[in-house]
Amino acid sequence: MSSAKRPVVGEKAYHLLIGRGEVPRYVLLPGDPGRVPKIAAAWEEARELARNREFTTYVGRYKGAPIAATSTGIGSGSTAIAVEELLWAGADTFIRVGTTGALRREIRLGDVVIGTAAVRWDGASRWYAPPEYPAVAHWRVVSALVEAAEALGVRYHVGVVASTDSFYVGQERPGHGGFLPPWAKGLVDTLRSLGVLSFEMESATIFTLASIYGARAGGVYAAIANRETDEFAAEVGVEDAIRVANEAVKILHDLDQANRS
Ligand code: URA
Repeated sequence: MSSAKRPVVGEKAYHLLIGRGEVPRYVLLPGDPGRVPKIAAAWEEARELARNREFTTYVGRYKGAPIAATSTGIGSGSTAIAVEELLWAGADTFIRVGTTGALRREIRLGDVVIGTAAVRWDGASRWYAPPEYPAVAHWRVVSALVEAAEALGVRYHVGVVASTDSFYVGQERPGHGGFLPPWAKGLVDTLRSLGVLSFEMESATIFTLASIYGARAGGVYAAIANRETDEFAAEVGVEDAIRVANEAVKILHDLDQANRS
């Protein structure tokens, strides 16, 4: 039996099935479990540590940096669980690697977006902090992502994203039978007028929890949709987002090592 307040199975966190000390500090966070082995394909060492529900975790090494990747599932509920259990297991630096729906014409399909902050239209972060509390990425992670994109020659855009728990109606896509309630009408224009770059679904949760807990977080997303041009292409740019995220971990690891000595 374990405490109901901190449920474990054996010595493992209840959902992710990972133990304390089993993950390094740097963890990439895709939504899709299928992306975890794709991320790990570029590592010189990789092994599956755990797999349960939507959560698959690999650990390994990329260019000498200890690294892990854990899938969060889609949206804030499962993402908050993943971040909590990863922190408990020993992680302190998170990079979301995902896809995004661009709101601006100049963001072409396949470009990557690097998030500096996220509009908190998720659900889980409301349980942690009042709405005035910002969901900001850590400046060092943003800087490492930009440096990685530059080094790899990937086309990128840097700015605020909007995280919603709803892919369809919450991103002003008509639901079943054309359903679109009044409060969802105009979301795209509103965000665009505020300079927001794109929609995605997990970063507000990751950034908020990381700030509260003194951890570091950032996000890099492949633009697979453009709401201005009304184009969509699944998976375009995902390889680039993964390359940028892996490289950013190496950059952060080198910096952290240098700052320690
Ligand atoms: N992810 C989202 O949340 N929205 C999109 O349009 C594309 C990817």
